[in-house]
Amino acid sequence: MPKRTEVEYRVYSGADALSRAAAEHFLETAQAAVAAKGVARIAISGGSTPKRTFELLANPAEKFAKAMPWQQIELYWVDERTVPPDNKDSNYRMTREALLEKVPLKPENIFRIEGELDPEEAASKYEAAIRNHLRLEGAEGPRFDVLALGMGDDGHTASLFPHTAAINEMIRIAVANQVPQKDTWRITLTWPVINQAHDVFFLIAGKDKAQPVHDVLLGKYDPEVLPSQLIRPSNGRLLMLLDTDAAALLPAPDASGKGRLEIER
Ligand code: 6PG
Repeated sequence: MPKRTEVEYRVYSGADALSRAAAEHFLETAQAAVAAKGVARIAISGGSTPKRTFELLANPAEKFAKAMPWQQIELYWVDERTVPPDNKDSNYRMTREALLEKVPLKPENIFRIEGELDPEEAASKYEAAIRNHLRLEGAEGPRFDVLALGMGDDGHTASLFPHTAAINEMIRIAVANQVPQKDTWRITLTWPVINQAHDVFFLIAGKDKAQPVHDVLLGKYDPEVLPSQLIRPSNGRLLMLLDTDAAALLPAPDASGKGRLEIER
């Protein structure tokens, strides 16, 4: 059933402005969630783009370190590589070094995906940890307060890669996904769970992302080829934080750097 999704994109010149915008968004959404229900459930992606934002959030010279409600934040991952937590490719390791070692999150509020395990076991354990902690029953899924995504130059997001099985997973919260194009397995949240989040935003930078960003938003709907097209949050609102390079093929933003698109999928 096609669904209308309003996409707001905000364009920033340079990595620092983009990372600062992402840090502001984390702060705003986390504070709102804690004010509303005493807890903020944040799901983060890995890769390279978010690192600068995490470093900003942890920087004691910046307002974020003091303003973020760390004690009321629960931290989850959108996806993880099938490597140990100290491996250079681990999303957890990147986050630990940039953020976790510097801010007072409660250890019991950090829900690491155990990439060192057999992929299916890691996915099942992660799903069970989420279900048990949030006391989810039956088909009930988690509703993250804010969920940050990246986008690959092939149009993938999370670890939903083109032509992989996870694209068709509609029931589970997390799955092991074989990614032949990278000759590996990944653990990933499923796209229906991502879409249940109250606030979903993409954080994308670089010239190599301009074409996929354009094709995902304005190209033919074909999620097997462009899995990022599966992301249509249940509240019908999607935010994209982009640098000027990644936004180069979109309609020019207004004077404040904002643009808006209505997409029917
Ligand atoms: C991962 C991510 C993945 C990432 C994109 C973009 O585990 O790599 O979750 O989906 O967001 O590949 O990665 P970059 O930020 O490195 O371009």
